[in-house]
Amino acid sequence: MMKEKFLEIYRENITRPGSEEFLKWLESTDFFEAPASTRFHLSRPGGLVEHSIHVYYRLRDQYVLNRQDKEADAFIELSEKEEETIAICGLLHDICKADFYSVEMRNRKNEQGKWEQYPFYVVNDQLPYGHGEKSVYIISSFMKLAREEAMAIRWHMGFSDTEFKGGGFSVGNAFEKFPLAVLTHIADLQATYLDEAESDG
Ligand SMILES: [Fe+2]
Ligand SMILES: [Fe+2]
Repeated sequence: MMKEKFLEIYRENITRPGSEEFLKWLESTDFFEAPASTRFHLSRPGGLVEHSIHVYYRLRDQYVLNRQDKEADAFIELSEKEEETIAICGLLHDICKADFYSVEMRNRKNEQGKWEQYPFYVVNDQLPYGHGEKSVYIISSFMKLAREEAMAIRWHMGFSDTEFKGGGFSVGNAFEKFPLAVLTHIADLQATYLDEAESDG
């Protein structure tokens, strides 16, 4: 069901040259069955596509709010170009996690104290190119990204990005120049910590 939703949003909004070839490639990966993480948010089959949809809706809301604040306008209508940009950044920011995880069987004691096997996700990156930068690299081999789209996807992890942790300043500089990067990071945080918070834990 999440896959259908993803495809619906994709086809409705992303139409630039290469978009169909990209989708074909995506179908050849484990994207639609992959988890969003090994242990944290949406660590189950279909988690990654669900997360991507959450980020899309959150980003669209943030984008509209930002324009409303700037233009003091109650009603904002987005252009087709804006809708396409939002769909690309929301749906595809974590495309780097396609063909990224594999499942291992591990042992644990169940409630009755008996050993049982359970599936456990491990990272098994088939294309170790980083995170946001890897998403940009993959998308760019199919479709041309606008500068602000590339920046938004590259820096969607914000100050959790390994470049920043290593002492770099690029993320702050990118945020200053490209508001879309700030909005995409906010949307990623909202999806992860608000939409996907463990309610049964
Ligand atoms: Fe990410
Ligand atoms: Fe994400």
